[in-house]
Amino acid sequence: MTQEFHKKAIQQPIFELIRDSAKKLGQDTYVIGGFVRDYLLKRGVPKDIDIVTTGSGIHLAKEVASRLSGKPQVSVFKNFGTAMIKHGDLELEFVGARKESYHRDSRKPIVEDGTLEDDQNRRDFTINALALSLNEGNFGKLIDPFDGIGDLDRKLIRTPLEPGITYSDDPLRMMRAFRFASQLNFSIELESLRAISAHKERIKIVSKERIVDELNKILMCDQPSIGLGLMHQTGLMPIILPELTALQGIEEVEGQRHKDNFWHTLEVVDNIAKTTDNLWLRWAALLHDIGKAPTKRFHKKIGWTFHAHEFVGSKMVYKLFKRLRMPLNDKMKFVQKLVLMSSRPIILSEDHVTDSAVRRLVFDAGDHVEDLMTLCEADITTKNPRKQRKYKNNFKIVRQKIIEVEERDHIRNFQPPVTGEEIMEVFNLKPSKEIGIIKEAIKEAILEGEIPNEHEAAFEFMLKKAKTLGLKPVSP
Ligand code: CTP
Repeated sequence: MTQEFHKKAIQQPIFELIRDSAKKLGQDTYVIGGFVRDYLLKRGVPKDIDIVTTGSGIHLAKEVASRLSGKPQVSVFKNFGTAMIKHGDLELEFVGARKESYHRDSRKPIVEDGTLEDDQNRRDFTINALALSLNEGNFGKLIDPFDGIGDLDRKLIRTPLEPGITYSDDPLRMMRAFRFASQLNFSIELESLRAISAHKERIKIVSKERIVDELNKILMCDQPSIGLGLMHQTGLMPIILPELTALQGIEEVEGQRHKDNFWHTLEVVDNIAKTTDNLWLRWAALLHDIGKAPTKRFHKKIGWTFHAHEFVGSKMVYKLFKRLRMPLNDKMKFVQKLVLMSSRPIILSEDHVTDSAVRRLVFDAGDHVEDLMTLCEADITTKNPRKQRKYKNNFKIVRQKIIEVEERDHIRNFQPPVTGEEIMEVFNLKPSKEIGIIKEAIKEAILEGEIPNEHEAAFEFMLKKAKTLGLKPVSP
C-alpha cells in the first residue's frame, strides 16, 4: 500500500483543520485506531475518528470546535482526559497521548502524559495501534511500530506488548479480540489465546454491560460461531454463559447417544445469521436449547429425553438476562417466548400438517410466528440430506398453511367473535365462571376448525354450549 493511499484516508477537509489547530497549540497529532484499521482494510471511510495528541486532547478539541462551522459543542470527559465533538455525521474523539498502568482490581488506568509511542504501546492490538500523522512535516505518514500492516495482511490479532500485560491491564480486550476475530475473520495469535486462558478470571472486573456489548457485536457478525467458539476454547464461556457450556458433550448409555447441543447451538446461530439481522432473534437461537442441560435424562426404554426443556429454558432466559444486566423488557419476553415455543413448528413439520395445528401455532405465537419459523428452520442441522430435504419441505408447507389459515380465520390477533358482555346479556348473567367456559369453548371450536371465526357461527355455537350448561337465553 502506497503513501498516496494512506494520504487519501485523510483527504477530508476536517483533517487539515485538525492539523492547523494542532500546529497552533504546538502539539503533535495523529489519527489512530479503528479509523485507520478499517480504511486500510478497505471497509470504507469510517465516521468515528480517534485523534491522539501529545498534550491536552481537551484543548485541541476546543480549538478544533472553534474553527468548525456551527461551532459544535465539545463534550469533555475530564476523568479520562478525553473530549468528543459531533460534526455532521462524524464523531471526533480527542485524547492526550498517555503512558498507562492499571490497578489490579479495576479497568481504571493511572494516567501519565506520554509520547505517541507510549500511547501505541498501551493499545489493544497491533492493527488498532496504526497511526497516520496529521503534522505538517509528514502529513499522512503511516506510523506502525509493531507491523500492524503485516498483521492486516496475515489476518492476525496480536498485541503490541507481551499479551499477558495487554489483557490483564484491560480484560475487556479478551472479548474485543474474539469480536474482531469474528468481524474481520482474523485469527488470534497463539500467545494471545494462551494469555487469555491464563488471565480469564480477570474478565470478572469488567462490567456486565461492556461484556454484553461485545457479545452483541459477536452475535451480529456473519459467523458468530467464530467468537463464541473462541470464548469456549479459552475458558471464558463458563464464566460468562455457563448455561451454554453445560450443553457441551455427548453422553452414551447402553449404546445410545445424544447430539452435542453446544456445537449444535453454534451451528443454529450461524444459520440464523444468514437470514435475520434481528439481534434478539439471534439471542433466541443462542439460548433455544439451554433448558436441555438441566432436563437431560436417560430412560432404558426410550433413550435420552429433555422433557419440558423449552419451558425450563424460557425460565432460565430471565435469570441469564438478569445476571448479565440485560434489559428485562419486551426484548427479553420475546426471547423467552421463542425459546418456549422453539419445538412447536418442528413437531408440526415431522407429522402430517393439519390446519388445526397450524391455527394453534398462529394463535400461540401471534405476531412472532414468522420469527419462530425462522428460528426453527435455522434449527435444522441434520447432516442427513434426505431428512434435511423432508424438514425443509414440510416447513414450506407449514409457512403456506400459515398464510392460508390466516387469510381465512384471522387467528393471529385473535379477538373473540362473541364477547363476554354479549354472553351476559343473552343469558342475563352476572360475571361468572360460565362466561369463561363458553368463551373458551368457542375459541377451541374455532382453533379446531369446527366453526369459522365469525360472529354468526360463534353465536349459534354459544347457544348450543350454553344449553349443555343448563342456561337459557332470555327472550328479547
Ligand atoms: N482501545 C484499546 N483497548 C480497549 C478499547 C479500545 O486499546 N479496551 C483502543 C484501540 O486502539 C481502538 C481505539 O482504542 O482502536 C478505539 O476504540 P473503540 O472506538 O472502542 O474501537 P475501534 O477500534 O474504533 O473499533 P469499533 O469502532 O469497531 O469498536
